Amino acid sequence: MPVRIGVIGVGVMGGEHARLLAHEVSGSEVVAVFDVDPQRAGQVAAATGARSHDDPMVLVKDEQVDAVVVASSDPTHEQFVLAALAAAKPVLCEKPLAPDVAGCGRILDAEVELGRRLVSVGFMRRYDQGYRALKDVLDGGRVGRAVMLHCTHRNASIAPGLDSSALISGSAVHEIDIARWLLDEELTAVTVHTPRRGAGATGTQDPLFLVFESASGVLVDVEVFGNAGYGYEVRAELVADHGTVSLDSPPPTALRSDGGVARVVPADWRGRFAEAYRRELQDWVASVEAGTLPGTASAWDGYVATEVAQVGIRALETGQRQTLELREKPALYA
Ligand SMILES: NC(=O)c1ccc[n+]([C@@H]2O[C@H](COP(=O)([O-])OP(=O)(O)OC[C@H]3O[C@@H](n4cnc5c(N)ncnc54)[C@H](O)[C@@H]3O)[C@@H](O)[C@H]2O)c1
Repeated sequence: MPVRIGVIGVGVMGGEHARLLAHEVSGSEVVAVFDVDPQRAGQVAAATGARSHDDPMVLVKDEQVDAVVVASSDPTHEQFVLAALAAAKPVLCEKPLAPDVAGCGRILDAEVELGRRLVSVGFMRRYDQGYRALKDVLDGGRVGRAVMLHCTHRNASIAPGLDSSALISGSAVHEIDIARWLLDEELTAVTVHTPRRGAGATGTQDPLFLVFESASGVLVDVEVFGNAGYGYEVRAELVADHGTVSLDSPPPTALRSDGGVARVVPADWRGRFAEAYRRELQDWVASVEAGTLPGTASAWDGYVATEVAQVGIRALETGQRQTLELREKPALYA
C-alpha cells in the first residue's frame, strides 16, 4: 500500500515535489493538494491524480492522507506543521521550518510534547552526492580535522529590490545547515562583510560575505551573490589538516560548439539539486512507510538554521560580530 501524501502549496517547489512523489518516488502517491491559488491546485491535482481540497486543515486531518508536504510560502509553514503534529502525521516542510525563532520554538515544543519525531525540514543538500562524498572523506579521517570551509552560493538574479536579509534567510541558510551537518557541530558566532555592490545589485547590498565560527574553531566563509548574472552555482571546499576536499562542478557534461568547450551552468537550483530532491523524498517516504526516522533535517535542525540566519541578519544590520545562544536541546533530538 503506497504512502498517501497531501501537498500544501503547489508553486514551483510544491508542484515539483508533487510530480516526483506521483511519478518518480517509489511507494508514494499524491492523494490531495491545496493551494490558495485554486487554478494552480487544479493543474497539479490533474497532473498527479490527486484531489484538490479547499481547506488545508481538512486536508491534514483527512483519513486518506498519511503524511503531509508543506511547500507554501515561508510565513504559512508553522500553522501547517503544527496541524500535522496535532494529527500525529509525518510532515516534510520546505525550509525554513518557520521564518522566526519563536515560530520554530512553538513547533519544537509541540513535537517534544507529542514525544515523537514527525517533522522533517527540506534541507535537500544533505542528499546531494557531492556533499555526501565530502562528508564521507571527512568522517573517514583521510584528511584529518576540518580547519576551514569555503562556500559560494550564486544566483543568476534575484527579485528586484529583495532585501539583503533574504540573501541570508533564503540562500545562506542552506550553507548554515550544510556546515553544521558536515562538521557535526554548532556555529557559535557570525560576522557579515559587505563588499562593493555588484553591478546587478538592485536596491540591496549584494553580494554578502559571511564568516561563521564553529564551536571547535573552524571558520566557515560564505559568499552569497544574488545577481551573479551567469547562472546558479554552489561551491564548497573543505580545508583539513592534511588535504582539502571540494565539490566538483556538475553537470558532468561538456558542450562543444562554436570552436569551444563549455560546461553548462544550470539556470537555478532545480537543475543543480534535482537528484537531491528526489533522494530526499524517497528517503522520507521509505521512513514513513517503515515507521523509522528519516535522514532528513529535523525540527531541531530547522530551528537552529533559523536562529543562526536571524543572528546573521543582526550581524549585517549592526556591522558587528554576533555570538549565538541556542535554546537547550531537548532529549528527543539527541
Ligand atoms: N529547498 C530548496 O531548495 C528551496 C528552493 C526554493 C524555495 N524553497 C522554499 O519552498 C517554499 C515554496 O517556494 P516556491 O519557490 O515554490 O514559491 P512559489 O511562490 O512558487 O510557491 C508557493 C505557493 O504557496 C502558495 N501559498 C501561499 N500561501 C498559501 C497558503 N496559506 N496555503 C497554501 N498555499 C499557499 C502560493 O499560492 C504558491 O503556489 C518556500 O518556503 C521556499 O522558501 C525551498
